[in-house]
Amino acid sequence: MSYSSLLVEIDSSGIAIVTINRPDKLNALNAEVIAELDDWFSKAASDPTVKGVILTGSGPKSFVAGADISRFKGLGAEEGQRFAAYGQQVFSKIEHLGKPVIAAVNGFALGGGSELALACHIRVASTNALFGQPEVNLGIIPGYGGTQRLPRVVGKGLATEIVLTGAMVNADRALAIGLVNHVFEPEGLMDGARKLMLLMVEKAPIAIKLTLEALQSSDLPLADGLRDEAALFGRACATEDFVEGVDAFLNKRKPEFKGR
Ligand code: COA
Repeated sequence: MSYSSLLVEIDSSGIAIVTINRPDKLNALNAEVIAELDDWFSKAASDPTVKGVILTGSGPKSFVAGADISRFKGLGAEEGQRFAAYGQQVFSKIEHLGKPVIAAVNGFALGGGSELALACHIRVASTNALFGQPEVNLGIIPGYGGTQRLPRVVGKGLATEIVLTGAMVNADRALAIGLVNHVFEPEGLMDGARKLMLLMVEKAPIAIKLTLEALQSSDLPLADGLRDEAALFGRACATEDFVEGVDAFLNKRKPEFKGR
């Protein structure tokens, strides 16, 4: 599939920069963008040249300003449910990629844009970032995971305020409430995201994948999460990379992980 709304570059360290490229519409998510994200993330899961992904938006003003509102005219109950379910499926694919995904939020992250950033494992932002769930202004509710992932990241009280008021959250506030991990000047955003990703892509890939899987279980009751963690720890112990990591430490050398 060739992409008309996504730009993709993969560097020699295995970092893929995926840019949603509809700057004239503030990178709003139309059917094409969603389908292209679906296709790219499906393939990236098994692509050995991709070790981590940085997702961003084109232009200086916007990450993603939401679902494309022009798609909403005439949407009825059943079609609306299908619309939300498909977007959720694609965003879950991002969350379950098995490789780290950082959202580099370079401006508006509204509605589906905020939800897309929330489906990424880590969010970093530029000083001009503005997050929000303005769906209530349109008479709808967040449909791509906002009512589920936002409370898990910032807590239910703050999430309730954000989704019920539709008010925007600026970068400083997003940092204070843990919605983003770091804030950079706009010109330093991609470099900051890359430096953070480099720390992860040099690690043992299976350990990274299993750690991401274990973190998913942190939404479960503690006893279930601990059970999953022990099982995943056992799987990590069965890898060649574990043998290599321990041997490298004991022999005071840098490990050479093979992803096996
Ligand atoms: N869907 C479709 N088009 C969108 C869009 C969206 N979610 N967000 C922005 N655009 C389009 C605008 O219609 C405009 O297109 P045009 O030049 O053809 O008229 C273009 O992007 C630029 O947006 P504009 O509104 O002129 O920029 P602004 O700086 O004045 O305002 C926003 C920026 C983000 C505040 C404003 O565009 C907005 O409120 N967008 C909708 C956000 C939203 O509700 N998202 C959730 C949807 S569920």
